[in-house]
Amino acid sequence: MTLNNQRNFSAGPGALPDSVLRQVQEAILALPETGISVLGMSHRSDWFEQQLNEAENNLRSVLDIPKNYQILFLQGGSSLQFSMIPMAFLRGTGKTAEYLETGYWSSKAPKEAVHEGNAHIAWSDKVAGFRSLPDWGQLQLDPKAAYLHYVSNETVEGLEFKSEPKDLSVPIICDMSSNLLARPVDISRFDLIYAHAQKNLGPAGVTLVIVKDEFLACARNDLPSMLNYHTHLSAHSVYNTPCVFSIYVLNLVTQWMLREVGGLISMGELNNKKANLIYQALDQFPEHYQLHAHPPNRSEMNVTFRLKSSLLEADFLKNARSSGFTGLEGHRSLGGIRISLYNAIGLQATQELAQFLISQATP
Ligand SMILES: Cc1ncc(COP(=O)(O)O)c(C=O)c1O
Repeated sequence: MTLNNQRNFSAGPGALPDSVLRQVQEAILALPETGISVLGMSHRSDWFEQQLNEAENNLRSVLDIPKNYQILFLQGGSSLQFSMIPMAFLRGTGKTAEYLETGYWSSKAPKEAVHEGNAHIAWSDKVAGFRSLPDWGQLQLDPKAAYLHYVSNETVEGLEFKSEPKDLSVPIICDMSSNLLARPVDISRFDLIYAHAQKNLGPAGVTLVIVKDEFLACARNDLPSMLNYHTHLSAHSVYNTPCVFSIYVLNLVTQWMLREVGGLISMGELNNKKANLIYQALDQFPEHYQLHAHPPNRSEMNVTFRLKSSLLEADFLKNARSSGFTGLEGHRSLGGIRISLYNAIGLQATQELAQFLISQATP
């Protein structure tokens, strides 16, 4: 069977909605509104300024972003945020930055922070192999900490926080790379949120930063220009040549959210339904499928599990491919199988995959 986008369960870059891909296909040759390929559009054109403004307005409306928050479109992926954040908010403060170590990606962030100051691991599940997440009430944080950094959805292990932090008296920074736009989120609980595009927002190349004015005011201003949040804010994210294409597609994705999905409540309901279908199929066969995450911490975006042997896993992946499903290999650090259910994956493809899971476990 030939592969198609609807059945691409890859962990990222992830599938994009078909209607967006059709618009992009046309825009590569010529944008209807300019007659010029999107790949040749100047970042200083009125057209691009309009794209940026529209993307920002749509994000504000979809995510209900309060007025005292700024939106930046940056480069360098989420990995650069691992460094930019401590450079701006930890360097020279004499304070400690608190980090939750809940998986592969959150473990990377403090390794960059130690170049700038004192990074403290406030909670870790490393010894148990990253299978669970802490409750907010159980954390003991330095009340004078520069910030707390955590990852809301661990893409590799498939762990997701089901609630937002509350009553933690330190600034909260969250890497939402793999679940921003998947369901409603209370932005006002956070001081800084970042997410690269290549899961739910668009293609790789642009990283979204949503930051509270009062917190941004504490960011150092004596940093190299490209690593300085103030530079990007005053240049309206066009200090140098941004990734015009990715921002254009991100804008199309926000239009799709508003036009076809109807907003984050419907998106969240659909994502919940999709995840339940897959987990229910897997849970029917505990002998065959060994799930990685502790049930209350299971992610709705990335479902991770193992089969009894790597031979069985190789067979599973081969059968999946010949049935038209792709992108199911686990991350290279963990192995096994990973099903990613980002926003563009529809209910029908999910139902088909659930049937496939059942068929593979039934003699
Ligand atoms: C949660 C999370 N944070 C950070 C990253 C690193 O992102 P990037 O490749 O954009 O640097 C990833 C990559 O998939 C991720 O899933």
